[in-house]
Amino acid sequence: MRTPTFTLAAPSQHSDRVDPSISPARSDSHLPVDPAVTSATVIPIASGKGGVGKSVFAVGLAAALARLGRKTVLIDLDFGAPNTHSLLGIRNEHPGVGDFLRVRGSDLASLRVETSITDLTFLPGDGHSPLMPSITYAEKLKLGRAIAALPAEFVVLDLGGGSATTTLDLFSMVPRGILLTVPELPTFMNLMAFLRNLVFRRIERGVRGNLFLREYMRNLRGRSIHEETVRVSEILEHVHTEDPVLGERVAEIIRSIRPRLILNFGTDPGELSWLMRAASVVRERLSVQLDSFGFLPIDPELIRAIRQARPVFDTPHDGVAAIAIRRLADRVARLWGTDLENCFERLVADTHLVFEGGGPAAAARRDL
Ligand SMILES: Nc1ncnc2c1ncn2[C@@H]1O[C@H](COP(=O)(O)OP(=O)(O)O)[C@@H](O)[C@H]1O
Ligand SMILES: [Mg+2]
Repeated sequence: MRTPTFTLAAPSQHSDRVDPSISPARSDSHLPVDPAVTSATVIPIASGKGGVGKSVFAVGLAAALARLGRKTVLIDLDFGAPNTHSLLGIRNEHPGVGDFLRVRGSDLASLRVETSITDLTFLPGDGHSPLMPSITYAEKLKLGRAIAALPAEFVVLDLGGGSATTTLDLFSMVPRGILLTVPELPTFMNLMAFLRNLVFRRIERGVRGNLFLREYMRNLRGRSIHEETVRVSEILEHVHTEDPVLGERVAEIIRSIRPRLILNFGTDPGELSWLMRAASVVRERLSVQLDSFGFLPIDPELIRAIRQARPVFDTPHDGVAAIAIRRLADRVARLWGTDLENCFERLVADTHLVFEGGGPAAAARRDL
């Protein structure tokens, strides 16, 4: 029997917009959004669990992109606990995504709320209607299409923690997304669970008419992430042996998953090795390529602001987290739509430059 080989080569130049190869006519592993109505570059931000800094980072990134003169919309999509408005210092009194989903014919763009930052608008989560995690696939599609059509250069999605299918599907509406983690083992295990659920969801949706695969995946879902046996390479081999065409389709779906990882709550650049280890474990177990994208230092000033209910990043200040996020926003503005080469080495060099170059002084230097 021929042993199939599956490469992890980067998929051919993704668009940074919605994947144009996606057409509603075939089974889609992505949430299928018509590229013809897409105007914005959508950046979903997710993580395996709550409390890792997604909302803080989403606000910081959106604010920094807007300060670069890029029209940006930040959307609170934490189904269950939408609270991004509080970080922006905006009262919870505006209609939001929950209302958009409930009210027929409503226009998402018209629900945007001005912020204190020029070029940054905000779409609240629940507003007057709760943002429920149990939305239908048709509602996700309606939401995905409205998000992609927003009149902005960048749309930042602040998703909820964990692997709810709504979160997985919205994270999958574009080829590239950001995952946050912290340099601690339990959080890393949550990230692995998120990625495994993402891979399974994408395979299940991408080949959902296939009964053999559906049954096979259902059995696998019952197994623990800790079991050595749950390796995506084995799934690929098994499927390929049964049906080579189906096997290639599944391999293609997996190759199209290429998230970018940010380490938050950093205390020392040495912790960057977490990113390399994470990428290596994820490649080995899940056959997914994870790009190292950022390192955010822990910032006591940020904690103080949030505890005192002050807005974060509302002024261009030089806190350590703000500097790191500004550099990341610059990276996003220049490189988001391209596949990243040597991203780990570049991030290590840049992080050392910021840490050892004396914080604010280094902020002015060009990103690597
Ligand atoms: N880089 C950081 N430095 C200091 N505190 C942080 C940082 N990132 C996040 N936090 C703290 O973590 C808390 C949770 O962050 P949040 O963005 O709400 O997490 P999530 O959206 O992932 O649930 C914040 O209230 C803040 O106190
Ligand atoms: Mg949050």
